[in-house]
Amino acid sequence: MKKKFIILYYSKEGNTHQLAKRFWDIFREFIPNRYEIEMMKAQEMDLESLRASIGIVVGSPDYYGYVAGQIKIFFDEILEYKKDFKNKPAIGFITHGGGGDAAKSLQILIDHLKFNNINPIISVKENKITSKTEAQIQKSLMKMLKIAEDADD
Ligand SMILES: Cc1cc2nc3c(=O)[nH]c(=O)nc-3n(C[C@H](O)[C@H](O)[C@H](O)COP(=O)(O)O)c2cc1C
Repeated sequence: MKKKFIILYYSKEGNTHQLAKRFWDIFREFIPNRYEIEMMKAQEMDLESLRASIGIVVGSPDYYGYVAGQIKIFFDEILEYKKDFKNKPAIGFITHGGGGDAAKSLQILIDHLKFNNINPIISVKENKITSKTEAQIQKSLMKMLKIAEDADD
């Protein structure tokens, strides 16, 4: 079975889904054939796949300056498997309505679980994905791929 990168996200109104999809599109352009990339809704979280994955992109809307509950559940659930997630490369992203404080909470959660956190947290207002954001997505994904490939050697 091919080793997998997973984009785990929650989206109610579609903005975060759209950004997740953009990660998927950009990643697909340069991911080597021996790897796969999967989009996974937080409501359909498959912990076994996440534990076995070689890198995770995790995205949430900003809810009251924090990550959405469904994304918090992911972090709550993985504590008992923290050794499987330690040093796994992770990229965080959020969409927001003009605040964006959820980026900080996502950063803290990723660091707390000792992921290999690929900074910065990517933050987009609603669905306004700029070319600068796309360049940052590509840069972060290239870093994640390099870390995963080095671990895979
Ligand atoms: C319950 C709720 C709370 C929200 N709280 C905030 C907030 O504190 N700060 C902010 O910038 N946007 C806030 N928003 C706006 C959303 O973060 C923003 O519209 C986001 O892009 C929605 O993502 P989605 O389209 O993927 O559901 C809130 C939206 C909802 C529904």
